[in-house]
Amino acid sequence: MPLDPLWFIILSFSPKKKCKLENVDYLHLEGVPESYHDSVELHIETIAVTSIPRNKASLARPVVPPISVATTYEIDKCEDFAEAIKNEYVYSRFGNHTCQVVAEVINKLEGGIGGLVFSSGMAAITTSLLANLDAGDHLIAPDPVYSGTHKYLEQMLPHHGVEISWVTAGCHVDEYRKLVKKNTKVLYAETPANPTMAVTDMEEFGRLGNSLPGVMTMVDATFASPYLLQPLKYDVDISIHSCTKYLGGHSDVLAGFVSTRRLELFEKLSSYQKSMGSTLSPFDAYLLLRGVRTLHVRMDRHSSNALRIAQYLEQHPKILKVYYPGLPSHPQHEIAKKQMKLFGGMVSFELKGGLQAGKTFVESLRIPHLAVSLGGVESLIEHPASMTHGKALLGEEAFKQSTVPLGLVRFRHIFLLWMQRNKAKLVKERKDHNNTFQDPAMNRKQTVLLQESKAK
Ligand SMILES: Cc1ncc(COP(=O)(O)O)c(C=O)c1O
Repeated sequence: MPLDPLWFIILSFSPKKKCKLENVDYLHLEGVPESYHDSVELHIETIAVTSIPRNKASLARPVVPPISVATTYEIDKCEDFAEAIKNEYVYSRFGNHTCQVVAEVINKLEGGIGGLVFSSGMAAITTSLLANLDAGDHLIAPDPVYSGTHKYLEQMLPHHGVEISWVTAGCHVDEYRKLVKKNTKVLYAETPANPTMAVTDMEEFGRLGNSLPGVMTMVDATFASPYLLQPLKYDVDISIHSCTKYLGGHSDVLAGFVSTRRLELFEKLSSYQKSMGSTLSPFDAYLLLRGVRTLHVRMDRHSSNALRIAQYLEQHPKILKVYYPGLPSHPQHEIAKKQMKLFGGMVSFELKGGLQAGKTFVESLRIPHLAVSLGGVESLIEHPASMTHGKALLGEEAFKQSTVPLGLVRFRHIFLLWMQRNKAKLVKERKDHNNTFQDPAMNRKQTVLLQESKAK
Protein backbone atom coordinates (compact mmCIF):
# COMPACT_ATOMS: atom_id res chain seq x y z
CA MET A 1 0.00 0.00 0.00
CA PRO A 2 1.32 3.48 -0.77
CA LEU A 3 2.08 5.57 2.29
CA ASP A 4 -0.61 7.99 3.36
CA PRO A 5 0.25 11.63 4.25
CA LEU A 6 -0.01 11.05 8.03
CA TRP A 7 2.59 8.29 7.92
CA PHE A 8 4.77 10.44 5.74
CA ILE A 9 4.75 13.23 8.37
CA ILE A 10 5.48 10.79 11.21
CA LEU A 11 8.37 9.19 9.34
CA SER A 12 9.78 12.53 8.32
CA PHE A 13 10.15 13.53 11.97
CA SER A 14 11.56 10.20 13.14
CA PRO A 15 15.25 9.83 14.09
CA LYS A 16 17.49 9.65 11.07
CA LYS A 17 19.66 6.71 10.12
CA LYS A 18 22.74 6.46 8.00
CA CYS A 19 22.53 5.01 4.49
CA LYS A 20 24.83 2.06 3.77
CA LEU A 21 26.71 3.53 0.87
CA GLU A 22 26.74 7.23 1.49
CA ASN A 23 29.44 9.52 2.71
CA VAL A 24 29.74 9.74 6.51
CA ASP A 25 28.62 13.37 6.64
CA TYR A 26 25.24 12.82 5.07
CA LEU A 27 22.12 11.18 6.40
CA HIS A 28 18.88 10.04 4.84
CA LEU A 29 15.38 10.71 6.04
CA GLU A 30 14.19 7.80 8.10
CA GLY A 31 11.25 6.19 6.38
CA VAL A 32 12.41 6.59 2.82
CA PRO A 33 12.95 2.96 1.94
CA GLU A 34 16.40 1.91 0.80
CA SER A 35 14.83 -0.64 -1.45
CA TYR A 36 11.62 -0.55 -3.39
CA HIS A 37 10.82 -3.92 -1.86
CA ASP A 38 10.74 -2.50 1.67
CA SER A 39 7.50 -3.17 3.53
CA VAL A 40 6.70 0.54 3.87
CA GLU A 41 6.23 1.65 0.32
CA LEU A 42 6.22 5.30 -0.65
CA HIS A 43 4.80 6.48 -3.92
CA ILE A 44 7.62 6.75 -6.42
CA GLU A 45 6.56 10.39 -6.91
CA THR A 46 7.18 11.02 -3.20
CA ILE A 47 10.63 9.48 -3.42
CA ALA A 48 11.45 11.60 -6.46
CA VAL A 49 10.60 14.86 -4.72
CA THR A 50 11.73 14.16 -1.15
CA SER A 51 14.88 12.07 -1.26
CA ILE A 52 17.83 14.17 -0.28
CA PRO A 53 20.81 13.28 1.86
CA ARG A 54 21.13 15.73 4.77
CA ASN A 55 24.07 17.21 6.59
CA LYS A 56 23.73 16.06 10.20
CA ALA A 57 25.74 19.00 11.58
CA SER A 58 23.30 21.77 10.61
CA LEU A 59 19.99 22.83 12.11
CA ALA A 60 18.75 24.33 8.86
CA ARG A 61 19.65 22.70 5.59
CA PRO A 62 19.31 23.56 1.90
CA VAL A 63 16.51 21.63 0.21
CA VAL A 64 18.57 21.61 -2.98
CA PRO A 65 22.08 20.18 -2.70
CA PRO A 66 24.97 22.52 -3.48
CA ILE A 67 26.92 22.14 -6.71
CA SER A 68 30.19 20.93 -5.28
CA VAL A 69 32.85 22.04 -7.74
CA ALA A 70 36.12 21.24 -5.91
CA THR A 71 38.14 18.62 -7.76
CA THR A 72 40.46 18.06 -4.79
CA TYR A 73 40.22 18.17 -0.99
CA GLU A 74 42.76 19.15 1.61
CA ILE A 75 43.79 16.79 4.44
CA ASP A 76 45.84 17.46 7.59
CA LYS A 77 48.15 14.48 7.62
CA CYS A 78 49.47 12.12 4.92
CA GLU A 79 48.25 9.18 7.01
CA ASP A 80 44.69 10.49 6.75
CA PHE A 81 44.62 9.90 3.02
CA ALA A 82 44.10 6.13 3.15
CA GLU A 83 41.14 6.55 5.53
CA ALA A 84 39.73 9.57 3.70
CA ILE A 85 39.70 7.80 0.36
CA LYS A 86 37.37 5.14 1.80
CA ASN A 87 34.72 7.37 3.35
CA GLU A 88 35.26 10.99 2.35
CA TYR A 89 35.69 13.00 -0.79
CA VAL A 90 39.34 13.43 -1.75
CA TYR A 91 39.28 13.85 -5.53
CA SER A 92 36.14 14.34 -7.57
CA ARG A 93 36.71 11.49 -10.05
CA PHE A 94 36.57 9.19 -6.99
CA GLY A 95 33.45 10.82 -5.56
CA ASN A 96 31.57 14.11 -5.66
CA HIS A 97 28.79 15.19 -3.36
CA THR A 98 26.39 16.55 -6.02
CA CYS A 99 26.84 13.42 -8.14
CA GLN A 100 26.33 11.19 -5.13
CA VAL A 101 23.10 12.92 -4.17
CA VAL A 102 21.50 12.46 -7.59
CA ALA A 103 22.82 8.88 -7.84
CA GLU A 104 21.19 8.04 -4.52
CA VAL A 105 17.88 9.61 -5.48
CA ILE A 106 17.68 7.69 -8.79
CA ASN A 107 18.81 4.56 -7.01
CA LYS A 108 15.86 4.91 -4.65
CA LEU A 109 13.51 5.09 -7.62
CA GLU A 110 15.12 1.94 -8.98
CA GLY A 111 15.19 0.04 -5.70
CA GLY A 112 18.88 -0.84 -5.97
CA ILE A 113 21.51 -1.31 -3.32
CA GLY A 114 23.60 1.41 -4.94
CA GLY A 115 23.68 3.59 -8.03
CA LEU A 116 26.26 5.57 -9.99
CA VAL A 117 25.90 8.49 -12.38
CA PHE A 118 28.00 8.59 -15.53
CA SER A 119 29.05 11.18 -18.10
CA SER A 120 26.60 9.71 -20.67
CA GLY A 121 24.32 6.74 -21.24
CA MET A 122 27.03 5.16 -23.40
CA ALA A 123 29.58 5.63 -20.60
CA ALA A 124 27.18 3.78 -18.27
CA ILE A 125 26.77 0.95 -20.81
CA THR A 126 30.43 0.54 -21.75
CA THR A 127 31.65 0.73 -18.13
CA SER A 128 29.10 -1.90 -17.07
CA LEU A 129 30.16 -4.21 -19.90
CA LEU A 130 33.90 -3.78 -19.43
CA ALA A 131 33.60 -4.33 -15.69
CA ASN A 132 31.90 -7.67 -16.24
CA LEU A 133 33.38 -9.17 -19.40
CA ASP A 134 36.87 -10.62 -19.96
CA ALA A 135 38.55 -11.89 -23.11
CA GLY A 136 36.99 -15.23 -24.06
CA ASP A 137 33.56 -14.36 -22.61
CA HIS A 138 30.32 -14.41 -24.58
CA LEU A 139 27.44 -11.92 -24.55
CA ILE A 140 23.92 -12.19 -25.99
CA ALA A 141 22.26 -8.96 -27.08
CA PRO A 142 19.12 -7.92 -28.98
CA ASP A 143 18.92 -6.54 -32.50
CA PRO A 144 17.75 -3.86 -33.17
CA VAL A 145 19.11 -2.01 -30.17
CA TYR A 146 20.17 1.64 -29.71
CA SER A 147 22.65 2.23 -32.55
CA GLY A 148 25.47 3.43 -30.25
CA THR A 149 25.15 0.20 -28.26
CA HIS A 150 24.98 -1.85 -31.46
CA LYS A 151 28.12 -0.24 -32.84
CA TYR A 152 30.02 -0.75 -29.59
CA LEU A 153 28.94 -4.40 -29.28
CA GLU A 154 29.55 -5.30 -32.88
CA GLN A 155 32.59 -3.24 -33.79
CA MET A 156 34.49 -2.52 -30.56
CA LEU A 157 33.82 -5.10 -27.83
CA PRO A 158 35.18 -7.94 -30.04
CA HIS A 159 38.60 -6.16 -29.93
CA HIS A 160 38.66 -7.07 -26.22
CA GLY A 161 38.16 -10.74 -27.16
CA VAL A 162 34.44 -10.83 -26.34
CA GLU A 163 32.16 -12.90 -28.55
CA ILE A 164 28.63 -11.62 -29.38
CA SER A 165 25.44 -13.44 -30.40
CA TRP A 166 22.26 -11.63 -31.41
CA VAL A 167 18.62 -12.38 -30.68
CA THR A 168 15.64 -10.52 -32.13
CA ALA A 169 14.59 -7.62 -29.90
CA GLY A 170 11.43 -8.51 -28.01
CA CYS A 171 11.91 -12.28 -28.53
CA HIS A 172 10.83 -14.83 -25.93
CA VAL A 173 13.66 -15.35 -23.42
CA ASP A 174 13.94 -18.96 -24.66
CA GLU A 175 15.79 -17.48 -27.65
CA TYR A 176 18.46 -16.23 -25.24
CA ARG A 177 18.49 -19.60 -23.47
CA LYS A 178 19.12 -21.44 -26.75
CA LEU A 179 22.28 -19.39 -27.38
CA VAL A 180 23.78 -19.72 -23.90
CA LYS A 181 27.21 -21.40 -23.93
CA LYS A 182 29.78 -22.33 -21.30
CA ASN A 183 31.48 -18.93 -21.70
CA THR A 184 28.27 -16.82 -21.66
CA LYS A 185 28.64 -14.06 -19.05
CA VAL A 186 26.09 -11.39 -19.94
CA LEU A 187 22.50 -11.39 -21.21
CA TYR A 188 21.72 -7.88 -22.41
CA ALA A 189 18.26 -6.40 -23.11
CA GLU A 190 16.80 -3.02 -23.96
CA THR A 191 13.13 -2.51 -23.10
CA PRO A 192 11.21 -0.89 -24.71
CA ALA A 193 13.78 -1.17 -27.51
CA ASN A 194 15.03 1.68 -29.63
CA PRO A 195 13.55 2.23 -32.21
CA THR A 196 11.08 -0.65 -32.61
CA MET A 197 9.52 -0.46 -29.11
CA ALA A 198 9.93 -4.23 -28.70
CA VAL A 199 9.42 -5.30 -25.09
CA THR A 200 11.34 -7.97 -23.16
CA ASP A 201 9.62 -9.89 -20.36
CA MET A 202 11.56 -8.76 -17.27
CA GLU A 203 10.21 -11.52 -15.03
CA GLU A 204 11.34 -14.23 -17.45
CA PHE A 205 14.60 -12.45 -18.18
CA GLY A 206 15.52 -12.08 -14.49
CA ARG A 207 14.52 -15.70 -13.86
CA LEU A 208 16.68 -16.94 -16.73
CA GLY A 209 19.68 -15.01 -15.40
CA ASN A 210 19.17 -16.44 -11.92
CA SER A 211 18.96 -19.98 -13.26
CA LEU A 212 22.37 -19.75 -14.96
CA PRO A 213 25.30 -19.63 -12.51
CA GLY A 214 27.89 -17.00 -13.44
CA VAL A 215 25.56 -15.31 -15.95
CA MET A 216 24.57 -11.69 -15.40
CA THR A 217 21.55 -9.81 -16.75
CA MET A 218 21.75 -6.15 -17.83
CA VAL A 219 18.80 -4.05 -18.97
CA ASP A 220 18.80 -0.64 -20.63
CA ALA A 221 15.39 0.75 -19.56
CA THR A 222 15.95 4.29 -20.90
CA PHE A 223 12.66 4.39 -22.85
CA ALA A 224 10.67 3.52 -19.73
CA SER A 225 12.57 5.50 -17.06
CA PRO A 226 12.45 4.20 -13.46
CA TYR A 227 8.97 5.69 -13.10
CA LEU A 228 7.47 3.18 -15.53
CA LEU A 229 9.70 0.15 -15.01
CA GLN A 230 12.18 -1.03 -12.38
CA PRO A 231 14.11 -4.00 -13.82
CA LEU A 232 15.84 -4.72 -10.47
CA LYS A 233 12.44 -5.62 -9.05
CA TYR A 234 12.56 -8.63 -11.38
CA ASP A 235 16.00 -9.73 -10.13
CA VAL A 236 17.82 -8.26 -13.11
CA ASP A 237 21.41 -7.64 -12.00
CA ILE A 238 22.12 -4.26 -13.60
CA SER A 239 19.70 -1.54 -14.67
CA ILE A 240 21.00 1.16 -17.02
CA HIS A 241 19.63 4.52 -18.18
CA SER A 242 20.64 7.25 -20.52
CA CYS A 243 19.65 10.14 -18.24
CA THR A 244 20.07 12.39 -21.26
CA LYS A 245 16.48 11.33 -21.98
CA TYR A 246 13.59 11.19 -19.51
CA LEU A 247 15.49 11.46 -16.24
CA GLY A 248 17.14 14.73 -17.31
CA GLY A 249 14.02 15.62 -19.23
CA HIS A 250 14.99 18.97 -20.77
CA SER A 251 17.48 18.16 -23.56
CA ASP A 252 20.21 20.06 -21.71
CA VAL A 253 22.22 17.41 -19.88
CA LEU A 254 24.17 14.39 -21.10
CA ALA A 255 24.30 11.72 -18.38
CA GLY A 256 23.97 8.02 -17.62
CA PHE A 257 23.01 5.90 -14.61
CA VAL A 258 23.59 2.35 -13.43
CA SER A 259 22.18 0.57 -10.41
CA THR A 260 22.39 -2.93 -9.08
CA ARG A 261 20.94 -5.06 -6.31
CA ARG A 262 24.28 -6.70 -5.41
CA LEU A 263 26.80 -4.90 -3.20
CA GLU A 264 29.89 -6.58 -4.67
CA LEU A 265 28.72 -5.63 -8.16
CA PHE A 266 28.16 -2.04 -7.09
CA GLU A 267 31.69 -1.90 -5.68
CA LYS A 268 33.14 -3.37 -8.86
CA LEU A 269 31.25 -0.90 -11.07
CA SER A 270 32.31 1.97 -8.86
CA SER A 271 35.94 0.89 -9.02
CA TYR A 272 35.82 0.63 -12.85
CA GLN A 273 34.15 4.01 -13.11
CA LYS A 274 36.88 5.63 -11.03
CA SER A 275 39.60 4.15 -13.22
CA MET A 276 37.83 4.69 -16.53
CA GLY A 277 36.97 8.26 -15.59
CA SER A 278 33.41 8.02 -16.86
CA THR A 279 32.15 10.30 -14.06
CA LEU A 280 29.52 13.02 -14.37
CA SER A 281 30.25 16.72 -13.97
CA PRO A 282 28.69 18.21 -10.78
CA PHE A 283 26.95 20.91 -12.84
CA ASP A 284 25.25 18.21 -14.91
CA ALA A 285 24.43 16.28 -11.73
CA TYR A 286 22.59 19.36 -10.46
CA LEU A 287 20.60 19.65 -13.70
CA LEU A 288 19.86 15.95 -13.63
CA LEU A 289 18.44 16.12 -10.10
CA ARG A 290 16.26 19.03 -11.15
CA GLY A 291 14.87 16.86 -13.96
CA VAL A 292 14.32 13.86 -11.70
CA ARG A 293 12.09 15.92 -9.40
CA THR A 294 9.41 16.18 -12.13
CA LEU A 295 9.95 12.82 -13.81
CA HIS A 296 6.58 11.41 -12.75
CA VAL A 297 4.59 14.42 -13.97
CA ARG A 298 6.28 14.41 -17.36
CA MET A 299 6.02 10.63 -17.81
CA ASP A 300 2.29 10.68 -17.08
CA ARG A 301 1.75 13.31 -19.77
CA HIS A 302 4.16 11.68 -22.23
CA SER A 303 2.35 8.38 -21.84
CA SER A 304 -1.21 9.66 -22.15
CA ASN A 305 -0.36 11.73 -25.24
CA ALA A 306 1.58 8.91 -26.84
CA LEU A 307 -1.32 6.51 -26.43
CA ARG A 308 -3.71 8.92 -28.14
CA ILE A 309 -1.30 9.55 -30.99
CA ALA A 310 -0.65 5.83 -31.44
CA GLN A 311 -4.41 5.15 -31.58
CA TYR A 312 -4.90 7.93 -34.11
CA LEU A 313 -2.04 6.75 -36.32
CA GLU A 314 -3.18 3.14 -36.20
CA GLN A 315 -6.39 3.94 -38.06
CA HIS A 316 -4.71 6.30 -40.58
CA PRO A 317 -4.83 4.97 -44.18
CA LYS A 318 -1.24 6.07 -44.96
CA ILE A 319 0.28 4.25 -42.02
CA LEU A 320 1.39 0.66 -42.47
CA LYS A 321 2.13 -0.21 -38.87
CA VAL A 322 2.33 1.46 -35.45
CA TYR A 323 4.81 0.27 -32.82
CA TYR A 324 3.58 1.25 -29.37
CA PRO A 325 3.45 -1.14 -26.37
CA GLY A 326 0.20 0.43 -25.19
CA LEU A 327 -1.71 -0.77 -28.26
CA PRO A 328 -3.36 -4.20 -28.08
CA SER A 329 -1.87 -4.83 -31.55
CA HIS A 330 1.68 -4.61 -30.13
CA PRO A 331 3.11 -8.17 -29.99
CA GLN A 332 4.24 -7.77 -26.37
CA HIS A 333 1.30 -5.65 -25.17
CA GLU A 334 0.39 -8.12 -22.41
CA ILE A 335 3.97 -8.19 -21.12
CA ALA A 336 4.16 -4.39 -21.18
CA LYS A 337 0.87 -4.23 -19.24
CA LYS A 338 2.27 -6.59 -16.63
CA GLN A 339 5.56 -4.79 -16.00
CA MET A 340 5.10 -1.12 -16.93
CA LYS A 341 3.12 1.47 -15.00
CA LEU A 342 2.24 3.24 -18.29
CA PHE A 343 3.59 2.71 -21.79
CA GLY A 344 5.90 5.70 -22.24
CA GLY A 345 6.21 8.60 -24.62
CA MET A 346 7.82 6.99 -27.66
CA VAL A 347 5.79 5.94 -30.69
CA SER A 348 7.32 4.49 -33.85
CA PHE A 349 5.35 3.97 -37.04
CA GLU A 350 5.98 2.78 -40.56
CA LEU A 351 4.62 4.72 -43.49
CA LYS A 352 3.33 3.15 -46.65
CA GLY A 353 5.96 4.10 -49.23
CA GLY A 354 9.08 3.01 -47.32
CA LEU A 355 12.30 5.01 -47.13
CA GLN A 356 11.26 8.03 -49.20
CA ALA A 357 7.87 8.32 -47.52
CA GLY A 358 9.56 8.25 -44.11
CA LYS A 359 12.04 10.96 -45.07
CA THR A 360 9.43 13.20 -46.75
CA PHE A 361 7.13 12.95 -43.77
CA VAL A 362 9.69 13.92 -41.13
CA GLU A 363 10.99 16.79 -43.27
CA SER A 364 7.50 18.22 -43.76
CA LEU A 365 6.31 18.79 -40.22
CA ARG A 366 5.96 22.15 -38.59
CA ILE A 367 5.95 21.50 -34.85
CA PRO A 368 8.06 18.42 -34.07
CA HIS A 369 11.74 19.22 -34.53
CA LEU A 370 13.61 16.88 -36.84
CA ALA A 371 16.24 15.78 -34.34
CA VAL A 372 17.67 12.70 -32.64
CA SER A 373 17.25 12.00 -28.92
CA LEU A 374 14.12 11.97 -26.77
CA GLY A 375 12.85 12.61 -23.29
CA GLY A 376 12.81 16.42 -23.26
CA VAL A 377 9.68 18.53 -23.29
CA GLU A 378 9.92 19.31 -27.02
CA SER A 379 8.28 17.13 -29.66
CA LEU A 380 11.02 15.46 -31.68
CA ILE A 381 10.74 13.29 -34.75
CA GLU A 382 13.39 11.33 -36.59
CA HIS A 383 13.86 8.85 -39.40
CA PRO A 384 16.06 6.08 -37.92
CA ALA A 385 17.16 4.61 -41.28
CA SER A 386 18.79 7.91 -42.25
CA MET A 387 19.66 9.21 -38.77
CA THR A 388 20.17 7.21 -35.52
CA HIS A 389 20.28 3.81 -37.23
CA GLY A 390 21.64 4.99 -40.61
CA LYS A 391 24.96 4.62 -42.41
CA ALA A 392 26.53 7.71 -40.82
CA LEU A 393 26.42 6.23 -37.31
CA LEU A 394 26.41 2.48 -37.91
CA GLY A 395 28.74 2.28 -40.94
CA GLU A 396 27.89 0.93 -44.42
CA GLU A 397 28.17 -2.78 -43.59
CA ALA A 398 26.16 -2.71 -40.35
CA PHE A 399 23.50 -0.59 -42.05
CA LYS A 400 23.09 -3.22 -44.79
CA GLN A 401 22.50 -5.89 -42.10
CA SER A 402 20.18 -3.67 -40.05
CA THR A 403 16.66 -4.93 -39.36
CA VAL A 404 15.22 -1.46 -38.72
CA PRO A 405 12.39 -0.91 -41.27
CA LEU A 406 13.34 1.76 -43.83
CA GLY A 407 10.03 3.61 -43.61
CA LEU A 408 10.07 3.73 -39.80
CA VAL A 409 9.56 7.09 -38.11
CA ARG A 410 10.33 7.56 -34.41
CA PHE A 411 8.34 10.14 -32.60
CA ARG A 412 8.43 11.55 -29.10
CA HIS A 413 6.25 14.29 -27.79
CA ILE A 414 4.59 15.73 -24.79
CA PHE A 415 2.38 18.60 -25.92
CA LEU A 416 0.76 17.02 -28.87
CA LEU A 417 -2.96 17.59 -28.66
CA TRP A 418 -2.46 20.48 -31.05
CA MET A 419 -1.24 18.08 -33.67
CA GLN A 420 -4.23 15.81 -33.46
CA ARG A 421 -6.64 18.66 -33.72
CA ASN A 422 -4.86 20.40 -36.57
CA LYS A 423 -3.47 17.61 -38.65
CA ALA A 424 -4.28 19.44 -41.90
CA LYS A 425 -1.85 22.17 -40.88
CA LEU A 426 1.00 19.79 -40.22
CA VAL A 427 2.37 19.27 -43.67
CA LYS A 428 4.15 22.51 -44.37
CA GLU A 429 7.49 23.57 -45.75
CA ARG A 430 10.26 23.70 -43.19
CA LYS A 431 10.72 27.41 -43.82
CA ASP A 432 7.19 27.93 -42.54
CA HIS A 433 8.29 26.33 -39.33
CA ASN A 434 11.20 28.77 -39.01
CA ASN A 435 8.95 31.74 -39.77
CA THR A 436 6.53 30.55 -37.12
CA PHE A 437 9.08 31.07 -34.42
CA GLN A 438 10.00 34.56 -35.62
CA ASP A 439 6.41 35.73 -36.01
CA PRO A 440 4.69 36.57 -32.70
CA ALA A 441 1.27 36.68 -34.38
CA MET A 442 1.75 33.09 -35.52
CA ASN A 443 2.87 32.07 -32.06
CA ARG A 444 -0.33 33.54 -30.61
CA LYS A 445 -2.35 31.63 -33.17
CA GLN A 446 -0.70 28.39 -32.12
CA THR A 447 -1.45 29.08 -28.48
CA VAL A 448 -5.11 29.60 -29.31
CA LEU A 449 -5.16 26.38 -31.30
CA LEU A 450 -3.55 24.51 -28.46
CA GLN A 451 -6.10 25.83 -25.99
CA GLU A 452 -8.93 24.91 -28.35
CA SER A 453 -7.66 21.39 -28.74
CA LYS A 454 -7.24 20.98 -24.98
CA ALA A 455 -10.79 22.19 -24.44
CA LYS A 456 -12.11 19.43 -26.75
C1 LIG B 1 18.04 3.31 -25.37
C2 LIG B 1 19.27 4.15 -25.33
N1 LIG B 1 20.30 3.75 -24.57
C3 LIG B 1 21.44 4.48 -24.50
C4 LIG B 1 21.60 5.64 -25.21
C5 LIG B 1 22.89 6.40 -25.12
O1 LIG B 1 22.75 7.49 -24.29
P1 LIG B 1 23.70 8.79 -24.34
O2 LIG B 1 23.42 9.49 -25.61
O3 LIG B 1 23.32 9.52 -23.11
O4 LIG B 1 25.11 8.29 -24.30
C6 LIG B 1 20.54 6.11 -26.00
C7 LIG B 1 20.68 7.36 -26.77
O5 LIG B 1 19.83 7.72 -27.55
C8 LIG B 1 19.35 5.34 -26.07
O6 LIG B 1 18.29 5.71 -26.81
